Amino acid sequence: MSRRFRLRELPSEKGGQAEDTYKIDRRDFMRHSFNAAAGLITVSLGSVGFASLLMGTSENDGGDSSVRFWVPTGAEDTVWYGTQHLEPMSYSSFVDAASQSSTGMAGAQGVWSGLPVNVVYVPHDENKNSAVEENKPRFQYLDGYTAEGDYVGSAYEMDEKEEYSALSIHDNLIVIFSRCTHLCCIPGWQLVQNDYTNDTWIPGGIDSGGNKLFCICHSSRFDPTALEKNRNRNRSNGAEFEYFGIKKAGGPAPVGLPLIPFTVNGDVIEALPDYVDWYTFCD
Ligand code: FES
Repeated sequence: MSRRFRLRELPSEKGGQAEDTYKIDRRDFMRHSFNAAAGLITVSLGSVGFASLLMGTSENDGGDSSVRFWVPTGAEDTVWYGTQHLEPMSYSSFVDAASQSSTGMAGAQGVWSGLPVNVVYVPHDENKNSAVEENKPRFQYLDGYTAEGDYVGSAYEMDEKEEYSALSIHDNLIVIFSRCTHLCCIPGWQLVQNDYTNDTWIPGGIDSGGNKLFCICHSSRFDPTALEKNRNRNRSNGAEFEYFGIKKAGGPAPVGLPLIPFTVNGDVIEALPDYVDWYTFCD
């Protein structure tokens, strides 16, 4: 039985208390409209592209690079971060939430520089040396294939090249750009309850097992523990790009979702604007 929820509108420039404490859309660089109808979410963006306006990073303007919780309207009492809307994500809060989970995993909706994200904690360091058959969650480096079945590359490349160090497995965490590669809705972490989102896990990046990111628009599923190299296309200009991301496990989405590099600064999760082109496929 699905929970009913809808995504909050991003706060506007004018009025409200939130703008005083964060800088996500202070230059009106992105216009969102979130509409809930018949249980579906549609998301439309203005003509302003993500990449040219990505901001809020300490490196380029002294702004705020923290990833912040984003609590969908109606989910305040059902998600573990329900009281932390727009607060910076702390690493310790994920560790605490994961300790309440049967799999030791925890995930949350978030926003970073105006971009919708999901952050997922996986007890990788604790479980990576156990036998796969024990079904203990860990990240997996997998091969990536296009929707046509063409081999793109191996996620092991992330582990081998220094330039991907902030992207590759570290701190038991990943940050995921959360626009569905089907029609650009926003997949969520355990916002609906079904066999794909149950707190269970099996290896291989296959559609069975739970703890998938689930897109409620047309039921695409993504495995946040299955990392791959893949290829996608910008919807506006057709330009292709390769990226590292999580694997599509099922549904109409052609490929998986890109990863966002990050650091843990003290206890605050901060994302980095190193691979901006990866987040433009919905422009
Ligand atoms: S937009 Fe996500 S499944 Fe269609």
